[in-house]
Amino acid sequence: MKFQALPLIERKRDGGALEEREIQGLVEAYVSGDVPDYQMAAFLMAVTIRGMSFPETVAMTAAMLHSGETIEISARQPLVDKHSTGGVGDKTSLVAVPLLAAVGFCVPKLSGRGLGHTGGTLDKLESIPGLRTTLERAEFKTLVSRYGLAIAAQSEDIVPADRLLYALRDATGTVPSLSLIASSIMSKKLAVSSRLILLDVKVGDGAFFPDEESAMAFARLAIRIGEAFGRDTRALLTRMDAPLGQTVGNALEVREAVACLRGGGPQDLRDVAVALVAEALHAIHGLERADARRRAAAALASGAAYDVFRRWIPSQGGDGTYLEHPERWPQAAAADTIKAPSAGYVSRIGARAVGEAARLSGAGRLRKEDGVDASAGVEIVAPLGSRVECGADLLRVHASSEDQIRAAVSRIKDAVSIAKEPTQSAPTVICSLDKTGRREES
Ligand code: URA
Repeated sequence: MKFQALPLIERKRDGGALEEREIQGLVEAYVSGDVPDYQMAAFLMAVTIRGMSFPETVAMTAAMLHSGETIEISARQPLVDKHSTGGVGDKTSLVAVPLLAAVGFCVPKLSGRGLGHTGGTLDKLESIPGLRTTLERAEFKTLVSRYGLAIAAQSEDIVPADRLLYALRDATGTVPSLSLIASSIMSKKLAVSSRLILLDVKVGDGAFFPDEESAMAFARLAIRIGEAFGRDTRALLTRMDAPLGQTVGNALEVREAVACLRGGGPQDLRDVAVALVAEALHAIHGLERADARRRAAAALASGAAYDVFRRWIPSQGGDGTYLEHPERWPQAAAADTIKAPSAGYVSRIGARAVGEAARLSGAGRLRKEDGVDASAGVEIVAPLGSRVECGADLLRVHASSEDQIRAAVSRIKDAVSIAKEPTQSAPTVICSLDKTGRREES
């Protein structure tokens, strides 16, 4: 007899609890095709509305983790993994992962695609012509030991449950659930051996956690899950009220990350990448945070992290000539700009609106089967705090069609606020949480 998902959906809908074996059975049956998408989508919506207890969330994580094989890596350098809860313009992994490798860690990373209004590392990387993110286990391990890093997608063998659920959540409005985000992230992180899991928990308008309280609750939940599986897990809380950096969209963000690796790029992106790497140096080598930050910043400024990135990109099939010749990137066919309605200082750039506009421009998916347009997205022409005159360009939308431009422009026409006086912006990195969930100032 086929697995009966309906009683579990109804119980969760009514606020009841599920047992570990029921969650395991449901996930197994979904992966094997016994439970159809429409029933799983209904279950995910019930979880999004009703929530899951800690034991249910651990059971969900375990079921997803055991839906595939795990990857054991032995390396001379300590293995560190990094994952973001999702943000707008969040290209941090493209900078932080090679930077981790440059200071002496190995990074075996399973990443995700765009989710909801947020972007995903895999989509960004695949905008580099030729780059593959589907890697066999053996290849993944070889790349980690040879280049100090590898970034791959979930597959039919590795966390297949997350591969399927991730795409389904993206298209069914069931992303913003503490338990679903935690089980999705932690199943991927636990599937690969690492000594330290570092989470970048985004807080604010463009994140899945609107305030510090909910972000802290999420971070502590993920840390507890890590502990339940015997894995040192720590978190940084970082601000996501405005997009990170000045680009949102796949190829646009890769170009900005490359600029950062080559010594330029936006300050907020550099700050988050350096803080994450400093946290790893602090956790694993016991460096004082200020020393750790200096060491990470030096490896970024010296070009050591860029050297790692430049050598690694062709190893996953990427055409490295694009990194040094930004003019080679394809340009979107259409563009339009949002102009300043008055003179003053940019005091707000709504990250969620910009993320949704980028999705509408073609940089993200509206349906599971959609592809993404590498050249689409939104450029922030006037960053937070900058002085603008009336009529100056604030945001520029890139897309393949006029329809997409219109939809995106209409979503962001009010995303930017202009103040008469300059305003002080808060630091991007808020604090860190150690492996017991205790707050430490970064
Ligand atoms: N990143 C993931 O891998 N999963 C989520 O659910 C959110 C962010």
